[in-house]
Amino acid sequence: MTLLSVKNLRAYYRTEVYGISRTVQAVDGVSFDLLPNEIYGVAGESSCGKTTLIKVISGNIKPPLKALEGSVNYNFDDYKVDMLQISQEELRQNVRWKEISYVMQGSMSVLNPVRKIIETFRDIVDTHERITDKKKFLEQTRTHINRLGLPTDVLNAYPHQLSGGMRQRVAIALATVFQPALIIADEPTTALDVVVQRGVLQMIKDIQTLSGNTVLLVTHDMAVHANVADRVMIMYAGRIAEEAPTESIFNAPIHPYTQHLIHSLPMIGERSTKASLKGAPPNLANPPSGCRFHPRCPYVMDVCRTEVPDLISVKERHRVACHLVKEGS
Ligand SMILES: Nc1ncnc2c1ncn2[C@@H]1O[C@H](COP(=O)(O)OP(=O)(O)O)[C@@H](O)[C@H]1O
Ligand code: SF4
Ligand SMILES: [Mg+2]
Repeated sequence: MTLLSVKNLRAYYRTEVYGISRTVQAVDGVSFDLLPNEIYGVAGESSCGKTTLIKVISGNIKPPLKALEGSVNYNFDDYKVDMLQISQEELRQNVRWKEISYVMQGSMSVLNPVRKIIETFRDIVDTHERITDKKKFLEQTRTHINRLGLPTDVLNAYPHQLSGGMRQRVAIALATVFQPALIIADEPTTALDVVVQRGVLQMIKDIQTLSGNTVLLVTHDMAVHANVADRVMIMYAGRIAEEAPTESIFNAPIHPYTQHLIHSLPMIGERSTKASLKGAPPNLANPPSGCRFHPRCPYVMDVCRTEVPDLISVKERHRVACHLVKEGS
């Protein structure tokens, strides 16, 4: 049983500037499943397509972004949704906040700077379930945020009166008012210092344990995945390079790009800087042919320059896209 099944998804940005059209192949043939009750991590360096992928699977597809191919199917408890076919009305009424919550990069986007936190809660709850009993609403909101370990007085604060870490926790608390089946968080700890990060990550883990929902956690920070995720997808230039349980990604990475990511993680107490990859991340308006990693790969072969490697299963729950790897090996 899967909560979400994404098949062969292609989503490109098509822009036209001064009559010159440009296509950015941000998500190019991505297939994966999300299982109920897991924390699934999406990793990869900046501009590899992580945010674009979650925009599509959360139904935030607006020009210049276009989903060209593939399917994005949800199996919620009561009904099924095809995200590429759903109407905006149904998305707003039945899916957003209730089944899928999206904590965007930068918590301020959901918090209105001129409204107290309690008013933002009221706005969101009221759009789905008319608040008739104000006292009960206040009580329920207090219980909700206390359950997540936040102090009641944040409700009377304006966003600018809270620290960055507290604002991010409030954004996560807002995302969970309706106990959605899926919580998507995009770089929730980026820009927070390490101690504050720990609190936010613990909150995400606690929510998952308390409510049993699925969490899709997007971050370029591999240390965060190591601490939180059950499985990790490594994206490179709009495609999946590798996907495996977190332990396998960190203890036995197979794809040369994943190996680079893992080996360049600093060890505790280490001072020396690690070797970086040669070359720059590819331009997705004109990506390399064949394996998109080939200009930077230390093991590149002739076939890599012309043929796209398939994403194959090397073990149960472990998939890799590399010409060096054979099925079941
Ligand atoms: N609105 C946009 N118009 C055109 N290109 C975009 C737009 N948003 C993102 N891109 C491009 O799509 C690619 C993937 O970006 P993104 O999904 O934001 O990556 P990530 O979240 O991994 O940093 C990048 O090349 C980026 O420049
Ligand atoms: S397919 Fe070739 S270029 Fe790509 S990661 Fe594997 S060995 Fe390197
Ligand atoms: Mg991003």
